[in-house]
Amino acid sequence: MRLTAPLSWLDGVDPETGVITQPGHPQYGQSVAGKVVRMPHSVGSTVGAYGLFKLARHGAAPKQIILERPDSVTISAELVGIPVKVLGSAEAPEPKADGDIPEEFVKFLQREASLAGAEKYVRVKSVHISGVSYTTIGDAGLEFLEGLAERGVKVRVAATTNPAGMDLSRWRDMGVPEDFAEKQIRVVNALVRMGILPTLTCTPYFVGNLPGPGEHVCWGESSAVAFVNSVLGARTNREGSVKAIVAAVVGLTPIYGMHCEENRRPSAIVDVNGELRGTTEFSLAGFLIGELYPHAVPLLRGVKNASVDEMKAFGAGGAASGSIELFHIDGITPEHHLKPTDDAEKISLSKEDLREVEERLSTTGSPPDLVTLGCPHLSLSEIWYIHSLMKGRKASVPFWLFTSRTTLSQLSRDVVKELESAGVKLYADTCMVVAPLKKMGFRVVATNSAKAAKYLRTLGKLEVILMPVEKLVDMFTVLAS
Ligand code: F3S
Repeated sequence: MRLTAPLSWLDGVDPETGVITQPGHPQYGQSVAGKVVRMPHSVGSTVGAYGLFKLARHGAAPKQIILERPDSVTISAELVGIPVKVLGSAEAPEPKADGDIPEEFVKFLQREASLAGAEKYVRVKSVHISGVSYTTIGDAGLEFLEGLAERGVKVRVAATTNPAGMDLSRWRDMGVPEDFAEKQIRVVNALVRMGILPTLTCTPYFVGNLPGPGEHVCWGESSAVAFVNSVLGARTNREGSVKAIVAAVVGLTPIYGMHCEENRRPSAIVDVNGELRGTTEFSLAGFLIGELYPHAVPLLRGVKNASVDEMKAFGAGGAASGSIELFHIDGITPEHHLKPTDDAEKISLSKEDLREVEERLSTTGSPPDLVTLGCPHLSLSEIWYIHSLMKGRKASVPFWLFTSRTTLSQLSRDVVKELESAGVKLYADTCMVVAPLKKMGFRVVATNSAKAAKYLRTLGKLEVILMPVEKLVDMFTVLAS
């Protein structure tokens, strides 16, 4: 079976039947179960590795996967017995790892290196692990993690974690069902037993996991991958959740892809017409470019200013629709000076293009039963901005903000109190996409993030409203009496 477009293993395939459900995919409706599947590469979430685990658990996995370019999300399939081949690959040397390391992890890294055409390994400075929410990893992921913890497997590199499916201390207040909470706590406990830090955020760079330019790291969470490569200038591939655990235990990763300077050169030049303003416009621009060039390294020209939060939103958008690991913004990001490849394509992007994506990602005109902000997790300055917009107003529907526990602890008591008395709830450790919102009774969810809009629909099976934060506050709050 030949897939003519990239596929998301997390939300593009039914885990029980293997049927492709990714909207607009050319092979939509066909099943990968039991077939030899040739595909360009995967896109979207790095938690897709657990999507492959689920397919294997339900007997709906492909018989073999042939990749046209290596990606560690798909290569993780080998850990559950699905053979993966990359066109044109050859055998790599075994990594030299000392200490008590599971044999299958060493073999897995060697296999990845072989498939990717890598000849050497590099010691990684830090690891960030996605696939923490029980919503996305299910029983297949829980059993895998508990099995490792049971065997006494430990990480040897500082490793942070992505959001879980609930606020670990306020899950009852969120309305998370007991049976979900029990499984979620087991997932986090298994990770902690392995020595992994339960930071539970997709913005590890705001909570101390802050690599420097040129440092080699191994990060999952596609939005964080784009951020660490593009804004911090460190080097990682878009690592599958399982591969990141392997690298944290072994301490090494094969050198290929984004670890090599020649692959970091711009391969698409995007001229932006009109000033991009606010995180929503940046996230829409990223989303559109990810759709047009799923595996490109885009160079944006014509952008005069881009805040850290706007770049975080841009990277999340591009990594949600495509698999963009690195982008450059002329005059702003640290490697913007790299010379474009000779065959770099050129396109221009206008505000009208962004409006079209915004309309496409909104699925309903009905009012929301929940407004959510914080994809990726909110920074301190974003929370202060929302606080300023809420002055003198009160939410007219449930209004939830998502951030890390560390960021939450840095907010002043007054800001928290004022937001809460305006009807705004601040939750840590989780987000609107990986919390089980549908099971909690929500049907229509509003957000300001293109990434969240995509996954709320495809993974959460919810109706979605997408608009900028200012408009959300304007429409779904009233003047406080
Ligand atoms: Fe983060 Fe959840 Fe969005 S993990 S990037 S807030 S989907």
